[in-house]
Amino acid sequence: MTVQLAVAIALHQLATVIWVGGMFFAHFALRQSAQRRLEPPQRLPLLSSVFDRFFRWVWVAVVLLWASGLWIFLGIYGGAMAWHVHAMMTLALVMTALFAYVYFVPYRALGQGVAAQDWVAAGRAVATIRRIVLVNLGLGIVTAMLGSAGRYLQ
Ligand code: HEM
Repeated sequence: MTVQLAVAIALHQLATVIWVGGMFFAHFALRQSAQRRLEPPQRLPLLSSVFDRFFRWVWVAVVLLWASGLWIFLGIYGGAMAWHVHAMMTLALVMTALFAYVYFVPYRALGQGVAAQDWVAAGRAVATIRRIVLVNLGLGIVTAMLGSAGRYLQ
């Protein structure tokens, strides 16, 4: 039970670091530098290729978060958990839905825009991705804080 919980929490934390840390880096470091230093024909293919790689890892993190979270919640604690875990699950559901939207709509449009060298369409797609990633970053920080600090607020 203790070893299982330790493994589940470690995987849960690892997935959190990958997803939330990746969004923080993308928003506060990569985006601003790329915006300042590169013109659209260089910037947009670069961002498209960065998302190709990062979004694959986000899918891994999403699966890991749900699997490890449900394992802790249902498997280890038997579903009897405090308000902060329910809040975490609700926020995680919103974050997962937003990420799925980004992946299937504006990220696809970005790939098509870059392939067609349509920098206006690609730029519009990046602007949508940026706004949604910023919302998900805020939600992710709150969710991670709830997950780690919530148990002390019962
Ligand atoms: C973006 C999504 C999520 C993030 C960022 C997140 C983050 C965290 C963090 C940072 C912890 C604290 C780990 C520790 O004790 O060191 C945690 C704990 C936990 N998470 Fe999540 N989590 C997410 C989604 C989920 C989901 C989907 C579930 C359930 C299906 C879940 C269930 C739990 C449970 C049961 C705990 C243990 C809470 C406790 O012992 O007080 N989490 N989470």
